[in-house]
Amino acid sequence: MKKYAYINNKFVNFKNAKIHVEDRGLQFADSVYEVIAVLNNNLIDLDFHLRRLKYSLNELQIKYKFTRYYLKEIFLKLIKKNKTYNGIIYLQVTRGVQNRDHKYKKNLLPTLIIYSRNKKFNLPGNKFKGVNAITFEDQRWKRRDIKTVNLLPNIIAANLAKKNKAYEAILIQNGKVTEGTSSNIWIIKKNKLVTHPINSDILKGVTRTSLLKIINRTSLKLIEQSFTYKQLLSADEVFLTSSGSFITPILKIDKNKINDGKIGNITLKLAKMYSKSCMNG
Ligand code: PDD
Repeated sequence: MKKYAYINNKFVNFKNAKIHVEDRGLQFADSVYEVIAVLNNNLIDLDFHLRRLKYSLNELQIKYKFTRYYLKEIFLKLIKKNKTYNGIIYLQVTRGVQNRDHKYKKNLLPTLIIYSRNKKFNLPGNKFKGVNAITFEDQRWKRRDIKTVNLLPNIIAANLAKKNKAYEAILIQNGKVTEGTSSNIWIIKKNKLVTHPINSDILKGVTRTSLLKIINRTSLKLIEQSFTYKQLLSADEVFLTSSGSFITPILKIDKNKINDGKIGNITLKLAKMYSKSCMNG
């Protein structure tokens, strides 16, 4: 089946989708991105993604202006053309093309790249899975609140996880958990949920934001506070959140089983509540 991408202002054959060799996104990772889940044709948490996109662009002074209406129309056309009823939309905006120079020119035309891909999600139901994780030193820069494609430390850690047959690498900074290479990390201890507070040490996950709203509707207590490696291993339950993985239980970290290697009740309950809210659009 022919697939499409949307490059700058037109739909093109995905196979022929190209950018310039002097695009600053390619040469300097001078670029931001979003990954948006599509579930049963619904664009999940679209408004949170667009808000964060605006934030990332603004923090880097990349002058790309968009409206919700414009991008939503493209997303809907694209998932129809590509038959992405369940999958992800990838969007990237680079600062644009110029002769290679660390210093950027003022009025560059940003490059817009959008495509979609089918994906099977891990959702609560009879095949709901837990995963393994490893831990690794957080080697990233100090502005992790900006969703840039400057991801090499994440790539190194994620591939170490892969080598160890783990799904995710949980990043540790000064003995404390920041987040995963592409997810936010949560622990549960005695009915209390703990996750890292929002600051420049982590990405403000859209799934995290959405889940906070759901938690508010329950009697669970939430603490936005960093926690140690020791607290991570001694948690009753651990899970990760991201747009590609929704809520995914973590059952083993390094060599330590969490909750005897079984999916915990609170994780399951929250995963059900979140996937239900996604299904309802
Ligand atoms: N990653 N932290 C990091 C470093 C991430 O890269 C991501 C998402 C998250 C979770 O954010 P959200 O809930 O908005 O997806 C946290 C995407 C999915 C990726 O890079 O593929």
